[in-house]
Amino acid sequence: MKKSFTLKSSKSKPLNGIITVPSDKSISIRSLIISSLCLGNTKIYNLLESDDVLNTLNVLKKLHIKIEKKKEFYEVFGQGGYFSDPHENLDFGNSGTGIRLMTGLLSTSEVNATLIGDQSLSSRPMDRVIKPLEKINVSISYTNGSLPIRIFNQNKIHVPSSHKLEIGSAQVKSAILLAAMNVKGITKIFEKIPSRDHTEIMLKYLGASLNVSNNCITLKSPNFLKPKNLTIPGDFSSAAFIIVAVLLSHNSKVKIKNVGLNFYRIGLLEVLKKMNAKISITNKRNFNDEIVGDIEVNSSNLHGTTVKKEISARLIDEYPILFVAASFANGTSSFFGLGELKVKESNRLKTMAKALSENGVKLKVGETSIKIFGDKYQEGGKPVATESDHRVAMSMLIFGFFSEKSIIIDDMGMIKTSFPGFKDLFEVLGARIDYFRK
Ligand code: S3P
Repeated sequence: MKKSFTLKSSKSKPLNGIITVPSDKSISIRSLIISSLCLGNTKIYNLLESDDVLNTLNVLKKLHIKIEKKKEFYEVFGQGGYFSDPHENLDFGNSGTGIRLMTGLLSTSEVNATLIGDQSLSSRPMDRVIKPLEKINVSISYTNGSLPIRIFNQNKIHVPSSHKLEIGSAQVKSAILLAAMNVKGITKIFEKIPSRDHTEIMLKYLGASLNVSNNCITLKSPNFLKPKNLTIPGDFSSAAFIIVAVLLSHNSKVKIKNVGLNFYRIGLLEVLKKMNAKISITNKRNFNDEIVGDIEVNSSNLHGTTVKKEISARLIDEYPILFVAASFANGTSSFFGLGELKVKESNRLKTMAKALSENGVKLKVGETSIKIFGDKYQEGGKPVATESDHRVAMSMLIFGFFSEKSIIIDDMGMIKTSFPGFKDLFEVLGARIDYFRK
């Protein structure tokens, strides 16, 4: 599809079907990075082939890790954490997870590298990762807390460190853990607000000496990771768009199979159930120690709720679509503790508040909070400035299934950073999303 096209969504018919969603972005990126630390070959099944993941894959190739695409899997030829200097800049595109995790890992890997990203990534804070890494005695430079990041191999002696993380960020935690894989001794991280633990689960699954108790992670290095096949579950954050769309549609029932149900990712289910959502989970099992299950969703009459800051880390990526659910629910919803939402691919608090209010939703925004006055009738019809944010784009397209007038987003290109096939999947279920010439 040419660049001059974008997407338009319109009033939806009932949504029905049994589907799967694209694989988990967080786990896909980790699977590539962590299998490069194994000594030997890892087969990764169901790797998400989205821009964010493929950017990390290409970065690893530039660091001279051999990765081959086979018919059923990707094969990573791990070199036990040994990388060679890249000949070019390492470009992570839009991916905060890719760049932050790789900054951690490379900071102790004795390579020289320059890490860059697109305009959105270049405006996101990197000091939150680099400051804790400085405790390990690494050689990194960066400009005004942001990109490009330069890593120098100065043969410094890296020292084990202890960290107390005030913000709930899995990217920061994972950057420290990956850096610590090369640092002899014991590294400790205390998380005030626990965040998604995919890195801990995968490192442990592959044999790292890692323990977690009372929000404190202890990693003892050196570690020798042994390759094991990895299977990536469906991405709960992508399933979230379908869940909310089905809840808000009439006479609808959808089963989403093989979705990752990591405790730190599914705060949205708790909130939606409080809002009267009919959702059930069946067929729970494990993929490489990650919990996976099938999610069945039925049309529901949602009502407003209060979402406290304590749960925010467990639904951080789902706020945009949750705001859409709240917009069409009966009554008022209040959301607190949204500071971290302001440093995502866009300032999601601001971008979503603007998009929703311009399309008729009554709301009040605070510094780190928002109050949404829900109503079954929302006007719609105003073009959405997505600020190149994939989750804003997808959330507002779903808004257009239920608003009186259609929704047109200003750009669709970034949707494939996390959810390739978004339009087609919704069409299979019965929704209406059309290409629109800009
Ligand atoms: C991610 C962690 C979260 C999340 C992002 C993916 C990860 O970011 O918003 O989409 O894979 O570790 P923070 O760690 O910055 O909260």
